[in-house]
Amino acid sequence: APQNLRLQDVTIMYFTALAALMVILVASYQAPNLPLPMPFRVPLDPRKELQLAWNISYDNQEIYMQLRVAELRHGVVLGMSDRGELTNADLVVLWDSGTKSYFGDAWSDSKGHVSLDSKQDYELIEAKQKPDAFYLLFKRPFSTCDPEDYLIEEGTVHVIYGFLDQPLASLEQLNLSQIHMGVQRVLMLRPNTPSPTLPPDVQTLDVVAPNVIIPNQETTYWCFIQKLPENMPKNHIVMYESVITPGNEAIVHHIEVFECSPDMHDVPEYSGSCDDNMKPRKLDFCRHVLAAWAMGAEAFYYPADAGLPMGGPRSSRYLRLEVHYHNPLLISGRRDASGIRLHYTPSLRRYDAGIMELGLVYTPVMAIPPKQHTFYLSGYCTSKCTEIALPAGGIYIFASQLHTHLAGRGVRTVLVRQGKELEVVQEDQHFSTHYQVGNSMCGDVLITKCTYNTEDRSKPTVGGFGIMEEMCVNYVHYYPRTQLELCKTHVDPGYLQKYFNFINRFHGNDQCVCGEVGVTEQYAQLEWDAFAVEVLDSLYNTAPISMHCNQSTARLFPVSSQSLTHSSSMKDTIQKTEKSNI
Ligand SMILES: *[C@@H]1O[C@H](CO)[C@@H](O)[C@H](O)[C@H]1NC(C)=O
Ligand SMILES: *[C@@H]1O[C@H](CO)[C@@H](O)[C@H](O)[C@H]1NC(C)=O
Ligand SMILES: *[C@@H]1O[C@H](CO)[C@@H](O)[C@H](O)[C@H]1NC(C)=O
Repeated sequence: APQNLRLQDVTIMYFTALAALMVILVASYQAPNLPLPMPFRVPLDPRKELQLAWNISYDNQEIYMQLRVAELRHGVVLGMSDRGELTNADLVVLWDSGTKSYFGDAWSDSKGHVSLDSKQDYELIEAKQKPDAFYLLFKRPFSTCDPEDYLIEEGTVHVIYGFLDQPLASLEQLNLSQIHMGVQRVLMLRPNTPSPTLPPDVQTLDVVAPNVIIPNQETTYWCFIQKLPENMPKNHIVMYESVITPGNEAIVHHIEVFECSPDMHDVPEYSGSCDDNMKPRKLDFCRHVLAAWAMGAEAFYYPADAGLPMGGPRSSRYLRLEVHYHNPLLISGRRDASGIRLHYTPSLRRYDAGIMELGLVYTPVMAIPPKQHTFYLSGYCTSKCTEIALPAGGIYIFASQLHTHLAGRGVRTVLVRQGKELEVVQEDQHFSTHYQVGNSMCGDVLITKCTYNTEDRSKPTVGGFGIMEEMCVNYVHYYPRTQLELCKTHVDPGYLQKYFNFINRFHGNDQCVCGEVGVTEQYAQLEWDAFAVEVLDSLYNTAPISMHCNQSTARLFPVSSQSLTHSSSMKDTIQKTEKSNI
């Protein structure tokens, strides 16, 4: 029972490498009288049972962490790993053996075996049951020089957590796959530099969900239409940040605000699922991204000489908010009024900034085979599109925001000019928003390459909006603004059918359902051996692609959208594919 845990008995374990014996130090902890002043805090789980708060000492290069456990049973696990995996994770564990409680710095290996660390870098400061919850305070240096420990760096940290419902005779008995675990993305180290100051005449506008009830299903994209004040003159958005309903931090996965097409004079009111068939058609014309936020991201500041236009003639009065709720525990009845707070100024800056979407079109046509350690998907913004859509003087890219779902491991956008890879526009192996500068000219090619790992999946992962589907997106922030809204690709669907035919025949599967069912089903029915994976990879790298070079009005730039080809020479596989069909 929870109350059996006597906190004076919490024991710190040290592992002495030589003797392979544990020296147990029993320490008693004095409780300070006041709640600890921690500047940063984030709920870890959707049920609000576990909260992490922390402060940072840059002078001592260490971080104090406080865990608040609403109801402690037999212990908690907190950890950090590259992508939120349970393997190769740096762990701190509080557990009890039924009679005694222990605290220790531990790690899990590539197979998920948990061991105590030979060097204990988490220092326990306090463990205390208070009237409202159980509190655990400890600290750790950013860098421990221990290969088993995670190096806390700037950017997103994947924090894993878990609850122990059973006593553990020893830590080695802990199997993370068998306890209730979860992941939360946290920006642990906040830069010590002060935020840029906002102009004195700055005003705010909250674009937030109207206190909706989050549906009790895993994935919901909630759409809400918000009207701007009538005759709002042109302003510049100079900063935006998320406003998350307290307690829903672990459910609100990402948020976007779109401006509707100025051609739509009346966009009907709407608050409901974005996938609802009854959703007004006009919502499809609200695609111009104004602001995008994903879990873990901080406030977004525009450079001093640019701002994102809002209001004024030739702009729409209608904004569409889209909130992605990720509710894996199917919690019902939870209310939410999360969204984005726009900070804007009427004192216009020199440049209008713009945002464009690079990467892959959200479509099941692109897929990642199961059991892949590393699989790449690339989206192209081709020269055909940039030639027509970018101004002669080029654009200046000042920031970009990367996004994938759970199988994503990294995103990288590179700029290719006249066949030469010029620069990496952005790269992140942990995902976060970074400022990065670069110029892009008309005629350039921007390639956004995403890396995925599906070792834990037995079915192929297709592109799409669901959390178990995948995305490969980079929102590029730049100025001066152009009409280019989206520059993305997917493989030509006709060539994909040839691929299915070929692989099915190769496997002697004559009852090919090719073409009669959707591509998701065709991917799912495929026999995924190394050959099928290899041919798919080369299909994606060499087959013609379908280009989406879209304007903010959801109109296309006059670029032929079909059958752009890669400039690659690896056409062999496809030709083989075609031949074998004859
Ligand atoms: C962080 O919190 C600890 C515990 O309350 C406190 O002793 C320490 O001074 C704080 N450090 C900073 C940098 O705020
Ligand atoms: C942990 O449990 C999982 C699932 O029950 C099992 O497949 C795995 O082998 C176990 N790992 C260890 C290290 O015992
Ligand atoms: C681009 O615009 C076309 C025409 O409106 C539309 O069918 C297509 O879905 C758009 N592409 C994307 C990726 O939104």
